[in-house]
Amino acid sequence: MTGSDFTILPRHVAVIMDGNGRWAKQRGLSRSEGHIEGAKTFRKIGEYAGNLGIQHITFYAFSTENWSRPEAEVNGIMALFGEYLNEALNRLDENRKKGIRLRFLGDKSAISPALRELMDSVEKYTEDMTKVNLNIAVNYGSQQEITGAVKALCEKAKNGGLSPEDITPELISSHLYTSGQPPVDLMIRPSGEQRISNFLLWQSAYAEFWYSDVLWPDFTEKDFDEALLAYQKRNRRFGGI
Ligand code: IPE
Ligand code: IPE
Ligand code: MG
Repeated sequence: MTGSDFTILPRHVAVIMDGNGRWAKQRGLSRSEGHIEGAKTFRKIGEYAGNLGIQHITFYAFSTENWSRPEAEVNGIMALFGEYLNEALNRLDENRKKGIRLRFLGDKSAISPALRELMDSVEKYTEDMTKVNLNIAVNYGSQQEITGAVKALCEKAKNGGLSPEDITPELISSHLYTSGQPPVDLMIRPSGEQRISNFLLWQSAYAEFWYSDVLWPDFTEKDFDEALLAYQKRNRRFGGI
């Protein structure tokens, strides 16, 4: 489909890329092989969403809780992330033509310095792009994000630059990793799980949720279309009537 096939497109779509491990297990492969396939799906759906005209899309790649997985699996995911970052840097001209701004949501301090450097470069070289905002959540946890915002505001208050009555939802939003980006309109979770797993809790206060049993490596453009078609039929009330 193309963007004009839809009557209304969400401004911000969030995707929990789940089911790589089960996909691999079904095929007698290692979990890391599931992540390799999942990374291909990420590239495919990211590109498709941009072509449709989705302005903001956020992919959940690695949570703060995912460190509890076996070291080999974590290392495999980080290696894939490194490959993607190198590719993004090699394709800078192409991505700039498409107007893609890449951002990473999460606590970078726990990521290896080599990857961190690549992340900073990718962010810096795309920061003036405005057509598509592609966010990748890595070492992301929503509770940690909100805690960080509260700490930053307390610091400001302690230094006398902020009083309690200055604290508004907008001010809190502006201290999150998604600062300046619109709230999530549509949250997609494949793999049959129906939970939020510490992802964008604040930002999805009024998001529409769409679930699918498809495992992430099998997720196609058609599944994405299905989510968008379901979204445009929803009646969003935001507390009104
Ligand atoms: C999602 O797939 C990828 C990450 C969480 C990094 P999973 O690895 O969680 O796959 P399942 O849920 O075990 O199938
Ligand atoms: C959520 O998936 C995190 C990512 C997709 C990166 P998980 O597989 O970690 O979530 P749970 O453990 O099933 O809630
Ligand atoms: Mg999972």
